[in-house]
Amino acid sequence: MASEMVPLALSPSTIVIREHPKSIRVGKRTGSLLFKAKAFGPNSTVVAPNGSRFEGVTSGPPDPYYELLEAFEADTSDTKVNLWVRAYRVELQPFVLNVVKKAEKLMLEKGEDKEYLPMDGLAEFNKVTAELLFGANNPVIQEGRVATVQALSGTGALHLAAAFIHGNFPNAKALISSPTWSNHKTIFDDAKVPYSEYRHYDPISKQLDFDGMIADIKAAPHGSFVLLHGCAHNPTGMDPTPDQWGKIADIIQEKNHIPFFDVAYQGFASGNLDADAYAVRLFVERGLELLVAQSYGKNLGLYGERIGAINIVCSSSETAVRVKSQLKWLIRPEYSNPPLHGARIVANVVGDPALFNEWKQEVELISRRLKSLRQRLFESLSCKDRSGRDWSFIVKENGIFSLIGLNKAQISNPHGSAYQIAHALAVSVFLILHAFWYVLHCVFVRLSQIDNMRNKWHVYMIKDGRMSLGGLSLSQCEYLADAIRDSFHNVS
Ligand SMILES: Cc1ncc(COP(=O)(O)O)c(C=O)c1O
Repeated sequence: MASEMVPLALSPSTIVIREHPKSIRVGKRTGSLLFKAKAFGPNSTVVAPNGSRFEGVTSGPPDPYYELLEAFEADTSDTKVNLWVRAYRVELQPFVLNVVKKAEKLMLEKGEDKEYLPMDGLAEFNKVTAELLFGANNPVIQEGRVATVQALSGTGALHLAAAFIHGNFPNAKALISSPTWSNHKTIFDDAKVPYSEYRHYDPISKQLDFDGMIADIKAAPHGSFVLLHGCAHNPTGMDPTPDQWGKIADIIQEKNHIPFFDVAYQGFASGNLDADAYAVRLFVERGLELLVAQSYGKNLGLYGERIGAINIVCSSSETAVRVKSQLKWLIRPEYSNPPLHGARIVANVVGDPALFNEWKQEVELISRRLKSLRQRLFESLSCKDRSGRDWSFIVKENGIFSLIGLNKAQISNPHGSAYQIAHALAVSVFLILHAFWYVLHCVFVRLSQIDNMRNKWHVYMIKDGRMSLGGLSLSQCEYLADAIRDSFHNVS
């Protein structure tokens, strides 16, 4: 990041950040990907004997997604299935929307320049993105009460918001759903915003744990930032009903919490861009101040363009101006100003009535195709699995993800205390017995259902059992149903 590290003799987890020529902040960092505390040591800038100043830099943790990518690419099976890819593909192929191609053609014909954007991004983009979210006639837009800033896709928008929270509400706590997209935790960790979790999902009934959610939001300290998935919840696909959203808004108002929406899949849940903005608009209608992170990664397929926005709805236009100025000062030392291309595509598509209508149809098609994948998988599983298990949750979920419920790595204990004693011995005489422990571990660890999916069926998914239907083709549904049935019934 932009901060300059000043090497001093400090404890391994203590770092010094020079934020401003006149102010030096000393702090401890935890769990950050960018500043991984565990990976940090008090390195010296004195040249090491081998000539490298970076000799003492330890490796950061591996990213499980990229490990899966490598394993998937190396797998030569014809039947391999990719259930971890986060992009929407059509019959396994990357997909570029027609409206995007048309907007890019227009842009090329106009011969636009490549000058820098202002810190807060392309004005036309900021205007249309807020309108798409709140509705063009929404009073918050008419009254200039939204501070909208272009961001580096949904991730960048969330990170900007988290940094804004940390800087302006240093004692605030965030609440995130359990489970959630794993990067939410990383982002809050990195921004040093403490968080706890609220229940969102009951893995047994495979439904929204609405009572748990309400109880946990109610129990959180007054004025917490409550992160809510606007639609198509990642990873469960389970969204509250309109009635439930109303009750969530009630409790948030009662507790004076600040809603913070993550809208990464507008259009993917219902196929309708307005319907998927229902929750955000409801909370705005209630007069609540709130934050909304937006992404055009999925619904416009602009994954690599890194285009999104953070919108902060304020109670007055004067406050919105001040809030926006703070967001700009977070951007300035980080990347100065955002990229142009994706912003222009969005501005051209959303800002042009003909292209906008065409986009709406394309989004509806994507949503319909996701539903037909769910239907095909549900039918295949119901037909092949005679155990009486209810698979209907697959067709009740929204969007691209499903939590199928397969278990991850588990340790079996067939020899009871013998295993525990061996373990205790191994850890106590650490170095020599470590190898011995490792052998024991290999003998006693049983394959998980997710390992079975990968090892036997060449079906790749992340360890929490989340399936991304974006990487699935209709013709693979039967095969996938066989793999799931086998893993559930033949691997405990
Ligand atoms: C819930 C959620 N929020 C935000 C994002 C951010 O995506 P991006 O940074 O690609 O826009 C994702 C992407 O997977 C997501 O699932």
